[in-house]
Amino acid sequence: MFSNKDIAQFADLETPFYYYDLSLLQRSLSACANAAKVYDFHVHYAMKANFNDTVLKKIKEAGLGADCVSGNEVKKAIEIGFAQKQVVFAGVGKSDKEINEALDLDIFCFNVESVQELEVINELAGKKNKIAKVAIRINPNVDAHTHHNITTGLDENKFGVNSWDLPDCAEMLKASANLEFMGVHFHIGSQITNLDVYKNLCVRINEFAKWFEERGFMVKVLNVGGGLGIDYQNPEQQIPDFEAYFKIFNDFLEKRPNQEVHFELGRAIVGQCSSLISRVLYVKNGKNKNFIILDAGMTELMRPALYQAYHQIENLSKQDGEATVKYDVVGPICESTDCFGKEVLLQETSRGDLIAIRSTGAYGEVMSSHYNLREKVSTAFSQE
Ligand code: LLP
Repeated sequence: MFSNKDIAQFADLETPFYYYDLSLLQRSLSACANAAKVYDFHVHYAMKANFNDTVLKKIKEAGLGADCVSGNEVKKAIEIGFAQKQVVFAGVGKSDKEINEALDLDIFCFNVESVQELEVINELAGKKNKIAKVAIRINPNVDAHTHHNITTGLDENKFGVNSWDLPDCAEMLKASANLEFMGVHFHIGSQITNLDVYKNLCVRINEFAKWFEERGFMVKVLNVGGGLGIDYQNPEQQIPDFEAYFKIFNDFLEKRPNQEVHFELGRAIVGQCSSLISRVLYVKNGKNKNFIILDAGMTELMRPALYQAYHQIENLSKQDGEATVKYDVVGPICESTDCFGKEVLLQETSRGDLIAIRSTGAYGEVMSSHYNLREKVSTAFSQE
């Protein structure tokens, strides 16, 4: 819900822009941190969801760590001030350059996704006379029951070490003088709304942790990844149920004394704190339909084009209760997939109206592009 003050502020700004509600971000962070504290769980924020500086600073101040998936994300996390011992680095294709940079920055842990990667990290750490801390990202073959394109934990996915490669992995770990085994890592997908999925994941994590223990490894960290979804249908449902989420892991993980449980949440923390604000350029009639053409397109928000994702659309220039019309809400890009919603019921809309596309805090700004030589999307922040 936008206040009249928010809307008055938008009227003076050039569109399109991402608007961040920093007080909502703060509330979401507090809810997450408080719920995790009950069980002494550690949360690393998945930077890939949003690496806007202002957002990152708030997250750092809330005491979360950083989960990175590129050398540049690792460097950025350190620049923003995340403690080195709270930075983890995952990714199925880390380059030698990225590994070397992360070794130089003495991060907490590499989440390693193949036997060959273990070999390379051992060699590069050896050249620097360092010991690299590693966790093995295991592909547990657990269905996340989410969109196919954001499922990562099935045998058919490229991510993690498959169970049949674990014996080789264990051998490599034992033979590698410059690696320190920290534990096991998982991430089965994103926008997970069926929490039962996490029970299945816990069962698999227990099995894999035991597998390593039986072979003489001490499993210090159980990193369960992220993936907790948000309610895109209802952006006013601002804060996900972190309590129910963490409770599942407390109830179903067989956690050993002194073992740490780590999480990598992205979307659940930042998803609802931002909307993409755009202006109507044109309203035009198609065959049996009406189009609203916005000044924002798939270049600013890629999710609908890429995952057929739903984002609620609101006309901020019209009042509730005014007569409504069905519109296809589209962007200006020369692609038919440049569409934010079909048959969206909105108040009768005019050129110049302000439109909000909700729940765009995660994988919105970060996935924007310069396609069609578009300008970099700008940002605005609430006065807290
Ligand atoms: N950890 C790892 C290893 C990941 O790959 C991801 C997300 C996360 C944590 C954080 O997941 P989250 O809590 O945000 O669900 N662009 C897609 C989402 C891709 C997610 C990639 N990995 C989207 O817009 O839906």
